[in-house]
Amino acid sequence: MTQITLRRPDDWHLHLRDGAMLRAVAPETARDFGRAIIMPNLVPPVVTGAQAAAYRDRILAALPEGSGFTPLMTLYLTEDTDADDLAAAHASGLITAVKLYPAGATTNSASGVTNFDKVRPVLERMAEIGCPLCVHGEVVDSDIDIFDREAVFIDRVLDPIRQATPGLRVVMEHITTQQGADYARSGGADLGATITTHHLVINRNHILVGGIKPHYYCLPVAKREDHRQALVAAATGGEACFFLGTDSAPHPDHLKEHACGCAGCFTATNTMSILAEVFERAGALDRLERFASLNGPAFYRLPVNPDTITLAKGAPVTYPDKIEVEGSSPVTVFQPGFDLHWRIVR
Ligand code: DOR
Ligand code: ZN
Repeated sequence: MTQITLRRPDDWHLHLRDGAMLRAVAPETARDFGRAIIMPNLVPPVVTGAQAAAYRDRILAALPEGSGFTPLMTLYLTEDTDADDLAAAHASGLITAVKLYPAGATTNSASGVTNFDKVRPVLERMAEIGCPLCVHGEVVDSDIDIFDREAVFIDRVLDPIRQATPGLRVVMEHITTQQGADYARSGGADLGATITTHHLVINRNHILVGGIKPHYYCLPVAKREDHRQALVAAATGGEACFFLGTDSAPHPDHLKEHACGCAGCFTATNTMSILAEVFERAGALDRLERFASLNGPAFYRLPVNPDTITLAKGAPVTYPDKIEVEGSSPVTVFQPGFDLHWRIVR
């Protein structure tokens, strides 16, 4: 197969940031994707409907002229979230979902949740109104090994929340483990899971062997190779619960290549080329559309994008190594470590 046409894909987990960074990275996603779920972990975070509306306007202003890209906004769940404000923002179509960060789990998560009992009334309201909860699924307890944080979160936090809140629709964001994939499969129509581009490509050796590679450091951190293989099986298997959420998370180089480097891989620019390569190697190119374009809208109860993209296979395609950011160091584009042969026909 040298050419494949699929419905225009969406990105169900994306960081666009704000200001100069937003202006630098928004076109990278808008080029290929129809919609994206926009993460609210700005500083300060997007916690109210009014803040989400203002942020959406800034994103729309950063898009290239004539772009058809639609940002799907989220609110950042805190222990003080106002359930009425959330419900109004959801009813008006302003927000598509709400994001749960355990406090301290990742970048700009300090305002997240420490005591999950405190958000129970908001979660019950979300179940009533059908507003999905996007979950960063890692415990933060210092006695839990960082490679075990996802699996422990499922047992100690996620499963109890789901048992206590029937009808709550949950997306397990950026799963990185066999346990995450197995739990997602077990949850029925109200449970989905996003998988990133980079977690389909790297395992923990890529970060640590032969010198530390800060541009491969993200959270949840990449796990052992058998977990990566479990993620590839999940993404390429066609099951409805798995869909693309790149977690493309730009940080300027000077903060990645740092004594205390930020977590995040920037994959917006070359994701579709990388995914085509991964799916082809798995013998599943015909299932790329389900993962990138069909399963996500089905979970979120949104229509599939009306238009298509075409990927063509040929000589290795190159992408910029870096995206320039006004007034800052650039953002390094994720390097998969293998040649990319599939390009989007424009
Ligand atoms: O690697 C990550 N980067 N993981 C996250 O959960 C947050 C993200 C960011 O905002 O930089
Ligand atoms: Zn993220």
